[in-house]
Amino acid sequence: MKVVSIVGARPQLVKLAPIAAAFANSGHEHFIVHTGQHYDADLSDVFFSGLGIPDPDVHLGIGSGSHGVQTGNTLAALDPVLDRERPDWVLVYGDTNSTLAGALSAVKQHLPVAHLEAGLRSFNRRMPEEHNRILTDHAADLLLAPTAEAMRHLAGEGLAARSVLVGDVMVDVCLRVRDAVLRGEHQVGGLPDGISPDEPYLLATLHRAENTDDPQRLAGLVEALAALPVPVALLAHPRLVARAKEQGLKLAQGAVHVGRPLPYGGMVAAVLGSTGVVTDSGGLQKEAYLLARPCTTLRSETEWVETLIGDWNRLVPDPAVLGTAGWVGTATRPAPDTARDTPFGDGRAAERVVAVLAERAA
Ligand code: UD1
Repeated sequence: MKVVSIVGARPQLVKLAPIAAAFANSGHEHFIVHTGQHYDADLSDVFFSGLGIPDPDVHLGIGSGSHGVQTGNTLAALDPVLDRERPDWVLVYGDTNSTLAGALSAVKQHLPVAHLEAGLRSFNRRMPEEHNRILTDHAADLLLAPTAEAMRHLAGEGLAARSVLVGDVMVDVCLRVRDAVLRGEHQVGGLPDGISPDEPYLLATLHRAENTDDPQRLAGLVEALAALPVPVALLAHPRLVARAKEQGLKLAQGAVHVGRPLPYGGMVAAVLGSTGVVTDSGGLQKEAYLLARPCTTLRSETEWVETLIGDWNRLVPDPAVLGTAGWVGTATRPAPDTARDTPFGDGRAAERVVAVLAERAA
């Protein structure tokens, strides 16, 4: 069997790592296409080197642009690659513009498409990721779902016959890297200046368009982080840095210390070293849950509803609505003593993905 994986953005590289490892021992051929949606070394190269992913076979060099330009350029650039490779499966990951372009290119060329992390829904139709998820799920031939909740969404949209519950490959990589961190194999470096790994700190990220692109909203969120009584390590995504600069907003204020995004091992170490996480990232909400740190999510909804159980994750659509005391109490709350279940699987999802693809290859 020959499988072409199409990736382009940071979270897809994290998901690719366990899949590439599962293919390495399988006897199947795995061909990696990097669209180049993320081009900064901090968002791309360090994930290949840090997670031991083989170099991409093809790099399309697409870069940034409006949704139409980014998706359209990727689609056009993929056509000749898929036409030449003619794989048994095209595997697309998650919910980015690279995912949608990959699914469309494949389906138009009558190549079977599998969607990893199928069935996630925020039910917020203003999110670009939500468009990408829904369109990709309905175009794909095989829907590889991470959770029972995702399977329910797919069934609700009439897609049950194409869906398989495999578990979440992010558990595979998170637990493997956690164990390496605990064995001392990953440096705990890279935290922003002013944050000591030996003192309590909160780890924060912000990058979603709905939080970064409205100047008033972004200023309010940074102000809320700045008012916290604990140092906040804000690992700034290039989108956040670019939008703050355009808006004349200073990110480093009050409790906030600004640093660069971390490689995956450094990120897991930074979560383990923190007293809690404040974020709008999907992946980080889950990593906080798996690593037993309380999470505060700066959004009105989450795709990973399982993390809300037992108060491990709380949604805060607008910190100002809580008032200072309510916001501080939420963001700095200690880890709950409620048990965590394993809604995201057992850490062997990638092996299952390869087995399901092989079973169903034409
Ligand atoms: C994308 C995904 C999002 C994912 C996120 C993870 C879409 C619609 N969104 O969002 O689902 O959670 O990746 O990071 O695909 N930029 C750089 N360097 C880079 C990449 C981006 O400077 O290497 C800046 C550019 O200003 C660019 C902006 O970030 O215009 C947005 O990048 P883009 O790929 O459109 O979306 P992300 O916000 O990264």
